[in-house]
Formats: sequence, C-alpha cells, structure tokens
Amino acid sequence: MTQRRILVTAALPYANGPIHLGHLVEYIQTDIWVRFQKLRGHRCIYLCADDTHGTAIMLRAQKEGRSEEEIIAETQTAHERDFAGFQIEFDNYGSTHSDENRQLCAEIWSSIRKAGLVKEKEIQQLYDVEAGTFLADRFVRGTCPNCKAENQPGDNCSKCGATYSPAELTDPVSAITQTTPELRPATHLFIELEKLHDFLDEWTQAPGRMPEEIAKYLKGQFLGSDQPSGDDGESGRKELRDWDISRPAPYFGFEIPDSPGNYWYVWFDAPIGYMASTKQWCDKHGESFDDWWRSAETEIHHFIGKDIAYFHTLFWPGMLKSAGFTLPTRVQIHGFLTVDGAKMSKSEGTFVKAETFLKYLDPSYLRYYYASKMGPRVDDLDLNLDEFASKVRSDLVGKIVNLASRTAKFAHSTGLSAEYPDDGGLFAQGAAQGDQIADAYENYDYNKAMRLILELADRANPYIEGREPWNLRKDPQRQQELQDVCTVGMNLFWQIVVYLSPVLPKLAEQTGELFGQPITNWEQSQTPLTGIAINKFKHLMERVDPEKITAMIEESKVSDEPAEDSSNPYNDSDQPLKDEPICDEITIDDFAKVDLRVARVLEAEHVEEARKLLKLKLSLGGNETRQVFAGIKEAYEPEKLVGRLVIMVANLAPRKMRFGLSEGMVAAGGPGGPDVFLLGIDEGAQPGQRVH
Ligand code: MSP
Ligand code: ZN
Repeated sequence: MTQRRILVTAALPYANGPIHLGHLVEYIQTDIWVRFQKLRGHRCIYLCADDTHGTAIMLRAQKEGRSEEEIIAETQTAHERDFAGFQIEFDNYGSTHSDENRQLCAEIWSSIRKAGLVKEKEIQQLYDVEAGTFLADRFVRGTCPNCKAENQPGDNCSKCGATYSPAELTDPVSAITQTTPELRPATHLFIELEKLHDFLDEWTQAPGRMPEEIAKYLKGQFLGSDQPSGDDGESGRKELRDWDISRPAPYFGFEIPDSPGNYWYVWFDAPIGYMASTKQWCDKHGESFDDWWRSAETEIHHFIGKDIAYFHTLFWPGMLKSAGFTLPTRVQIHGFLTVDGAKMSKSEGTFVKAETFLKYLDPSYLRYYYASKMGPRVDDLDLNLDEFASKVRSDLVGKIVNLASRTAKFAHSTGLSAEYPDDGGLFAQGAAQGDQIADAYENYDYNKAMRLILELADRANPYIEGREPWNLRKDPQRQQELQDVCTVGMNLFWQIVVYLSPVLPKLAEQTGELFGQPITNWEQSQTPLTGIAINKFKHLMERVDPEKITAMIEESKVSDEPAEDSSNPYNDSDQPLKDEPICDEITIDDFAKVDLRVARVLEAEHVEEARKLLKLKLSLGGNETRQVFAGIKEAYEPEKLVGRLVIMVANLAPRKMRFGLSEGMVAAGGPGGPDVFLLGIDEGAQPGQRVH
C-alpha cells in the first residue's frame, strides 16, 4: 500500500461562543477519519483554529469593555480544553488572528489582485450613527420588502424566504442601538467570481469532489447549465455574483494592506486560517509548507457543515486557484444536529455545551453514538436521548466490553495459549471483514462500519456463552480448554477494538495496556496474539446512568450562555420571558387608563422596619408631590436616587401601609430583590410629563 499524504481540516469554530454538541458532530467525524488514516499508516495531519474576526466579536468586546484579544484568548483556551475532553486530537490548533495568517492573507490577496479579479465598487450601506459603525446583515432588522412582514433580519425574510440586501428593508432598525440607520456610500472591494466560472463548474462537478446533492445544488442555483434549458433553446448558464470582500472600519480583522481603512471580511481570512495553522505546524516540525499546500502529492480534505458549503465550494477554491495553491481533493459536508427530533433549544435544555456533557457523561459514548448514526450524506443527525442510552448500554457495554470482562480475568492468570486455537474460523472471518470496514471508514460511512463491527461481536458473544469459561474454571481437568477459550475471546475482543480504535481511542488505549502492547496499526486486526501475558483487568466502561442524562439536560436549561443561532446579536436570554409570559392582550383604551408620568426624586430614605422598602418623595413639577413606598431597598442606595428622574404610575389608588400612605408606584424591571432596575428617561424630559 502506498503511503498517502493527507491534510485534513474541520471548520474553524467562531471565537464568540462555546463548543456544543452540534459542533461536535463535525469535530468527532473528522477526528475519526484522521485517526483511521493514521492507523492505516498514512501521513495525515488534522488542522484547525479559532475563527476570531468579525463584527460579532467586536461588539461583544465593546459591550464587555474588554479587548478582542482578551476574549479570543479566553475562548481559545476553552475550545481546546473541550476538544481535548472529547479526545479530538489536532496536530495543530491555531488562530486566524495570527501573524502567519496575516502574512498568508497578504500573499493570496496580492495574487488575486494580479490575476485581475478585484474591483472597487461604491455601494450604499446602512450606517448606525449612534454606534458609529456600518451594519452587517444580521445587525439590521426591518420590514420585508417582499411580504411586508415586520422585524425581519437584514438578509432574508423568515416569513416568505425572500433574500435582499439590508438597504432594501423598509423601516430598518439597528439591532445595536435600536435607532434608524442611514444609508451612506462606502467603497467596497469585490472579487469577480464570474471570471472563474468555467473553472468552478469543472471543479465542483468533478466526481467525488463533494456529496452529490451539494454539487447538484451548486449547479442549479449558482452555476447553471451550459446545456440549453427549456424550449426556447437559451443557455441556462448563470452568472456568479461579485463577492464583497472588504468591510470599512471599525472592524475587528486585518486591514487590507493596499486599501487603508478597509478590512478583509472575516470569510476571506477564515479559510486561509487552515493554511496558517499548517504553517505553524510545519515550523514546529521542520516540514515544508509547500509540500502540503503546493504539491500534487498531497490530498486536502475539508470537513464542514451544510451551512457553510457555499464558502468552501465556490469562494475558497476560487481563491486557491487564483493564488496557485493545491485545490481540495474533497469537501465532505454533514447535516445538522437535532436532539430528540428538534433543533437544539436552550429552553428545552438540549443546547448542551461540550463542557456540560463532560461533567456528566463519558465522551466515548458520544463518539460511538455519533459514529453509529453518521453516513456519507448531508442528512441531519438526530441525537435521540433514549436511543443514546440504550445503544451505549447494549452495543458498547453489553456486546463489546463484555467480551473482555468475561475472559480477561482468567487470561490474566494463564496468559494466552502458545498457539492460536481452533475458533471455528471466527478470527479469520473478522480479519477478512477488514477491507470492507476500512472502505466504510474511508467513505465516511461510519454507520456501516459500526454495523459490520457489531456483527463480529454478535458472533463472538455466542461463542463465549457456548464455551462457558466460568464453568471450565472449576474443572482442573479442563484448564487448557479454559486458556484456549479465553485466548479466542481475548483475540476477538482485540480485533474488534483495533477496528473501533478510530472511534474509541480511550478504549483502544486501555486495551493496549491490557495486552501489554499499544494499538497503532490496522494490521493488528489481521493476526491473532499468542503466548503473551495479559495484564490485570481494569474496568473499561460504565453503563450510561439515565439520571446523569437528566441532570445534564437540567443544567443546560439554566445555562445562560448565548444561543448560537439566535437572531439577537446580543444573545439575550429567553429566560425572563419564560419566567413571566406576556399577559392577555389589552386595547389601547385599557392602556390609556394607566397614567404614567415623569417624576423627580426629591427625597429618599430607608424605612427601618421594612426589609425591602424605600420611602420616596416624588415631584411631578411645581408643588405637586407624591409619597411612594418602593421595593427597591436591596438594589439602590437612597442618597444616589435623589435628583434623578423616574417613571411613576400616577393614578394608582392610594394604599395605606403600615408606614404611611403610598400614592403611586415607580416603574421598574427585573424579578425583584437586588435585581430591580428603575426606569429612567432620556435627558430633556420634564417632571409631570405623561408617558404614552
Ligand atoms: N467560523 C465558521 C467556519 C469558518 S471555516 C473557514 C463557522 N463557525 S461555527 O462555529 O458556526 O461552526 C463550525 C462548524 O460547526 C461548521 O462547519 C458548522 O456547520 C458546524 N456546526 C455548528 N452548529 C452545528 C449543529 N448544530 N449541527 C451540526 N454542525 C454544526 O461556521
Ligand atoms: Zn417576507
């Protein structure tokens, strides 16, 4: 077998959120494939990095009053810790905010310029005057120009599906400041992708380049067909749109060297991050970068999710082609994770962070479960929590680990027989299955690989049950037979673990310790082990405790980490609204009955006998004053309130309290106790004015 040189990447996770079970579909899928290639003796490296640039990170830094660098460093540490927790082993984990990346971006940029693919265009873009920034698509909401649905995102309508540019929204509102943005001209740089049309057509449509359904989709949606379509005999070829590659300051990213004040859009520098991570690895290991990115001998495999196929199958090969780098051999694309048939949801507790999973459950469970559900196609993958528990219990513990637990103890006392006994052809059959299992791994059909491997376990278990080593043990006349049966059982277990080792590296490691030799090569599944000592058996894997699953889901419910797919750029939690749902509908007349007024705090003092109350004297202008008892003692110091404006319900029936008369109510948000927030009003409002 000739040794292949394979460079593998998984998509670079955004540095503005934690790794969750959805991400892990991809990083586990890729890790299994890489471990498989290494086990087969190929040269294979697995590269990844954090994707750090863009508006989202910049706004988060502003909001938290920290630098972007601090946030991305903190996130990267957490990401690497989570990946390691799931035994996802990168050869290098970099960052798009690195010198290597900046340099490679500049190099590729100048090649693309030289190739004549860059043009400048003035466009009208929405600008948030208050925030002092141009607004990216997801930071604008407004009325859909097509169906008039309100409060739609800046790029496409969730009601009618129309796509448009943010500038086309009627009544656009900035999601950052809630103000109305204005249109300002801005010069952006564009890559003229259409100039690469023929190349992209050929490249994307090459057999095996990517899952077929994606190739077809690209053809139909973006490239079109050169064949005449329909009766009119016209060509069905479509024109690729220019790709807007720059963003004006302020932007967290790399400034474009020959276009000061403009930054590369995050999706320009992100995939180059694959190369930058390779560069770091090469420098660490004395390897040549060109061997990996400018060599026909190297295969490049990208693993990504279906949401980012467009970037990896049109823009990215276009960039590589123009800059003269090796093109990807394969873009493998997976679907999305659902949990119990639904999209991951924070309120249901199914938006489970990697970190939370690890607190309760063994990562091997998830690796095995995902593997057993993963095929080569772009279908979504469902994590069914009941099935998850039962699969781990019956397959992993019941069928596989059980082989060792029923034979390893005896084998430890006798060692393995000097010659491999007659096992009725079981080991040989298993060895013969090797090629088929390997093909399944190679073709991303892990589901098939797992089925084939389980078939081996399904043949091995009846063998052991039939030979009853636990009874042989008691008969001094039959000790040789006992040793032989255990030798067979242990070897069948060994063979299965070699095949499973890309999926279950931890089990492979423990098995290596048990046999006194590490599992490092696929060929170890082909020849039985004989005449060796077996080490003391240590417990290999626990059953899934269903209570732990429940606890994990419960903890995920209270977690207030930002929801990844939220359309709310601030990732505000949906908890408050859930805690207190919106009341029954009222009419405008109902509302008009509540007379809200601007009031100024004249005096504020503690009510000694009351734990929660402050006594306020409020002015409605002139000599009109009201005395109000407000439950804000835990949240506000009285001295600090004096002079400020508040909003009060002025026509509330007065209420006699133990401490005196309360003549109204001040408006505040929050659940109470220390979490109470008084309503204020912008500068210029006058006490006494009505709030409508
Ligand atoms: N930063 C970009 C990728 C840049 S690659 C040059 C990005 N990051 S991401 O964090 O949103 O997603 C990283 C990968 O995880 C993507 O391939 C994405 O498809 C995958 N997944 C994120 N959520 C997922 C699910 N819920 N289910 C399955 N995969 C998911 O995109
Ligand atoms: Zn619409």
